Amino acid sequence: MILNKLKALNFRNYKTLDLSFDKERNINLIVAKNGMGKSNMLEMLYYLSHLRAFRNATDKDLILHGQKNFQLFCEYENKEIHGNVSVKFSGKKEILLNEKRITKHSEILGKLQTVFFGSNDISIISGAPAERRVYFDIFLSILDYDYLVALRTYNLLLKQKNAAIKSKRNDILFYFDKQIADVAFILIKKRAFLVDKVSVLFSELFKNIGAFKDLALLKYVSSYERNFNTSKDLLDYILYQDKFDFEKGYCIQGPHKDNYYFILNNTIFSKYASLGQIRLGALILKLVQAKCYENKFKTSPILLLDDVILELDIEKQQKFMNEICADYQLFITVTDEKYRKYFNNQNAVRIIKVNNGEVLQ
Ligand SMILES: Nc1ncnc2c1ncn2[C@@H]1O[C@H](COP(=O)(O)OP(=O)(O)O)[C@@H](O)[C@H]1O
Ligand SMILES: [Mg+2]
Repeated sequence: MILNKLKALNFRNYKTLDLSFDKERNINLIVAKNGMGKSNMLEMLYYLSHLRAFRNATDKDLILHGQKNFQLFCEYENKEIHGNVSVKFSGKKEILLNEKRITKHSEILGKLQTVFFGSNDISIISGAPAERRVYFDIFLSILDYDYLVALRTYNLLLKQKNAAIKSKRNDILFYFDKQIADVAFILIKKRAFLVDKVSVLFSELFKNIGAFKDLALLKYVSSYERNFNTSKDLLDYILYQDKFDFEKGYCIQGPHKDNYYFILNNTIFSKYASLGQIRLGALILKLVQAKCYENKFKTSPILLLDDVILELDIEKQQKFMNEICADYQLFITVTDEKYRKYFNNQNAVRIIKVNNGEVLQ
């Protein structure tokens, strides 16, 4: 997939932006000192594909100070099909896909495909279980619409069942359990299937790029702590657990409590790996995510790399770059033009210099 055009109006510190890109120069280096608008430019692309900012910001925070609205627009090409996305925000959001208004955000997911690599990604590996759940939920929702539907249904049912427990209605819990078992079974199976695939790719790349002897892998553990062959088996278990949920005052187990473990030599990553290994692990995880999208959609997503390359040592920077620079359109933020030397094919490098929200021509 290729981004051909990007336009912005009043977005973050950009008054206007109008850039065109070409297939031949797929490595776009966004060069500026800190605080000039490099990440803001990546955020435009992230927003056009996810309809939200990647930093904890509301839509209102994205409007250039002193203005009342922002607009973003992009044109992309995917397997020779051209498309465009336009977003306007002025208190409410107006989204157009190929000039047609859309109301459901899920219609955009998977259209302009991007994978974002940021310094905070290490928290996917070393942060709390909830961060991993959110990460894999987004990962899977883009890959598989049925997962997204099951997840939404599960979250709604869970809320309703917890409310019933709170109002001491143990007589109606069974009513939720059948539907919960059906969707929870889908979530568990899809999570396990994805993690098996991700783990194989993750181990391989971690070994190749890191040149470590250590074995890195990923494990998914359902909070039910046992396997179920059918949703009926799961239902029996949930019905049996109801009395414990009722005693506790909420649903103790279920996909909302699942965990994903990053393991290095049989030990939890964050307890054993060096910071450098955790950083590399996070980068590789994102690369595996990109490869999974590629397998599914038969097109390579656009990679957005925000300062992460400079955190690796030189040898790993080179290996990581070799892994990505031929196959993807890249947008990489750097603080100096000298980093162009990492790329073997200099003809593929395009330098975009930014100063205080303006692109220098
Ligand atoms: N809504 C906004 N209006 C104006 N300026 C903003 C807005 N949001 C962020 N900024 C400015 O953008 C700059 C940071 O840009 P950023 O892209 O994060 O920098 P970097 O080049 O270091 O990645 C800061 O100077 C910040 O004040
Ligand atoms: Mg930045």
